[in-house]
Amino acid sequence: MKSRDIRQSFLDFFASKGHTIVRSAPVIPAEDPTLLFSNAGMNQFKDVFLDKGVRPYTRATDSQKCIRASGKHNDLEDVGRDTYHHTFFEMLGNWSFGDYYKKEAIEWAWELLTMVWKLPKERLYATVYREDEESLELWREVTDIDPSHIMKFGDKDNFWEMGESGPCGPCSEIHIDLTDDGSGASLVNAGDHRVIELWNLVFIQYNRMSDGSLEPLPKKHVDTGMGFERVSAVLQGKNSNYDTDIFTPLFDAITGITGVEYRSTLDGEQDIAMRVIADHARALTFAITDGAMPGNEGRGYVLRRILRRALRYARKLDCSEPLIYRLVGVIADTMGGAFPELLKQRVTVEKIVKSEEESFLATLDRGMEIFADIVGSVRAENGRIISGEDVFRLYDTYGFPVDLTRLMAGEEGLEVDEEGFGICMEEQKTRARKDRKEKQQMGDGGSEWLWFDEVARKSVFVGYEKLEADAEVVAVRDSGSQLLLVLDTTPFYAESGGQAGDRGILEHDRYRFEVGDTQKDGELIVHVVDRVTDRSGDRVIAPESVDFSESRTVRASVDEEMRRDTERNHTATHLLHAALRKVLGGHVQQKGSMVGPDRLRFDFSHFEKVSGRELGAVEVLVNEQIRQTRGLVQKSDVSYEEALDMGALAFFGDKYADRVRVVEVPGVSLELCGGTHVDNIGKIGLFKIVSESSVASGIRRIEAITGKAAEELLWSEYQELQQIRRLLKAHQDEGVAVRVQELLEEKKDLGKQIRDMQLSVLLDKALQQLESSEEIGGCRVFTMNVRDAGADELKTLAQYLHDRIGCGVGLLASESDGKVSLVAFAGDEAVRTFGLKAGELVKNAAREVQGGGGGKPGFATAGGRNPAGLPKAFETFVAVVRATIERDKGL
Ligand code: ALA
Repeated sequence: MKSRDIRQSFLDFFASKGHTIVRSAPVIPAEDPTLLFSNAGMNQFKDVFLDKGVRPYTRATDSQKCIRASGKHNDLEDVGRDTYHHTFFEMLGNWSFGDYYKKEAIEWAWELLTMVWKLPKERLYATVYREDEESLELWREVTDIDPSHIMKFGDKDNFWEMGESGPCGPCSEIHIDLTDDGSGASLVNAGDHRVIELWNLVFIQYNRMSDGSLEPLPKKHVDTGMGFERVSAVLQGKNSNYDTDIFTPLFDAITGITGVEYRSTLDGEQDIAMRVIADHARALTFAITDGAMPGNEGRGYVLRRILRRALRYARKLDCSEPLIYRLVGVIADTMGGAFPELLKQRVTVEKIVKSEEESFLATLDRGMEIFADIVGSVRAENGRIISGEDVFRLYDTYGFPVDLTRLMAGEEGLEVDEEGFGICMEEQKTRARKDRKEKQQMGDGGSEWLWFDEVARKSVFVGYEKLEADAEVVAVRDSGSQLLLVLDTTPFYAESGGQAGDRGILEHDRYRFEVGDTQKDGELIVHVVDRVTDRSGDRVIAPESVDFSESRTVRASVDEEMRRDTERNHTATHLLHAALRKVLGGHVQQKGSMVGPDRLRFDFSHFEKVSGRELGAVEVLVNEQIRQTRGLVQKSDVSYEEALDMGALAFFGDKYADRVRVVEVPGVSLELCGGTHVDNIGKIGLFKIVSESSVASGIRRIEAITGKAAEELLWSEYQELQQIRRLLKAHQDEGVAVRVQELLEEKKDLGKQIRDMQLSVLLDKALQQLESSEEIGGCRVFTMNVRDAGADELKTLAQYLHDRIGCGVGLLASESDGKVSLVAFAGDEAVRTFGLKAGELVKNAAREVQGGGGGKPGFATAGGRNPAGLPKAFETFVAVVRATIERDKGL
């Protein structure tokens, strides 16, 4: 069976059992700060398990794109070394949301494996949680598994958790024995590639809280996950996932690039390298397709490490050129049927991967140089060990995995300080953990909510139509620093899709709550209260003393000005997006967006700076459309497929919900969008781009303003221009830029004239001094501190005096910014008669100002760092001249 048929037969099987086939969520999870990548099929249903969200079905099935390269489930370091671990893989799953439970889950899993796929029963093992007698019994009752093949395991193997917190529960796993003789019973859960886990049936019934405790969930659910690559290997009769038709096209392509054949051995270095490259190319392709970018933190950093690991392994194939980007197309071609987004994003992904590869290969070369420096300094100190900090620096900044550094150190006869490196790594992990914790604050912790109404555990958003509503407080929580409130109904928009959360007021019989922000927690809309006062607003009230026992009714009013400004910016973002696609091309894709009341920020894929001319064209286009005052069409309840059929653009960060909202500016733009918008684009008033910059390679950012903010900016710029006109006494229609240009040139000329004049004054003064200067044995000796003259002026002056001094020598000095310039000169006669040399004279003098220099006998310059030594320098100069002349006389 081809892998694509295996995927389909899984989905068909569960569809026949009443399951709705749903789409894989993006591998970059929407709205879950606790997770860098989707790591299990259940991620997209987390809110349902936690009773914070509902779906129009109670049974679902899909094939979920997963990446396990960070956090709780991390397989990165194993990939390549064995035949069944991946950073990217597909997880086939079926779910029950408070519907069927253990019995059906077990029964159907067995039916699919043994009756539909006809796997040999004697090769299958079932594990159950130590305390889960019920599952053990069910395996005996509802399947014909060999009872001796049912085994009990503890927390580590048979209690599944999504992450540090979140839904979890006991599980029952199905393993398959792939040993030649079927003797693998003792290898279940032993980390041996001959007996591997195929399918995990999780019975979700708890929520792991952030403090580590377990809270029972109101309903019980089923969450299963089967490794698609593993089951494909088994059904295709292969010993390794990498021998299936999922990977062979990738190996063929790698062979095409490097000339190295894949031989499918476990230990062969080149086979390991090829597995790493093929696997990592998939993870990168899927993650970047769904909107992630390689970068320096969070998921970007994980991707960067994956890419670097692959490139390092590529060297084992004697390949030091970018190659991963050449696999993107192979992946799109083979998997684009199941995941059409791969085909759409192919070109963009190739470009991003290629530029990341190029920059790492350059870094790799720089890292090699750094490594050479490190080796140099270790040797200079007669050491043998490269410090942990240096190993970490190579790892962190130059992407050198420690095993590479170790290898290279060995070649130089050195060792690495493993322990020191471990400490640096640990410190980094602590930093990362802290970062994650801080990001989690609103994610979980349902237990801390105080619910007044157990039934209405969700909020109805009415803010598309109105900005005021009467509502009931249904839950309250004191987050420590702020009071958080959930209402049954609210016009407040919670931050999402890049649009800022609303601000406003909740008025209660006794209190007035000032809402500074609105956030989402699952499907709950959380009002973040900055300040509580009494009804009149005069007296501040401590959040913990708020009492809802008498009434929970509030009048919720959104700050209208803030909301309207935000809406202008949001609709303008859609117009900007459409205009960019028109002016720059269809490759422009939203990569991020932030819409606030004061401005909008839009990140998009594009591979060079957007020129001034292009920005101008975009701005003109958007403003033209605004003037056409088209009404917006906003539809709240469209199926995802319908929306795509309509031609709607969907982006990274969007939740692939079943019913979506589309926002259309007829004839201009059509996007999936949950945000709030003006009802007519004419209301935007005016659109003005204020900046264009780069965010990452291949990603540009435009910031813009609209409405009143744009008007104010233009007005203040206009005022300023008027003021300049007045100052220049220019006419209204006269180009002031030309006038300013003229003025600048005039200023330059004047500056030059002034400098010439200063110089001539200086020359006069010097000439006067020259006449009265000291004479030693018929030779004039001239010194002068010209203070802040520039080096060029000093030289001009010296040249001038040189030509007039006859038999004589001179030393000129100037100081600026703590630095000293010296120029010495000797008239031709002084050189001839006394053998005086300007070069030597300046050298001796420069020593006194901690400097050096030299030149010809007639003319020489020097610099120094110590102005305080100048008097001494002049003295030395005179003394050396005297000594030279006297020596000459003595001869
Ligand atoms: N969520 C379960 C797992 O990832 C099925 O193994």
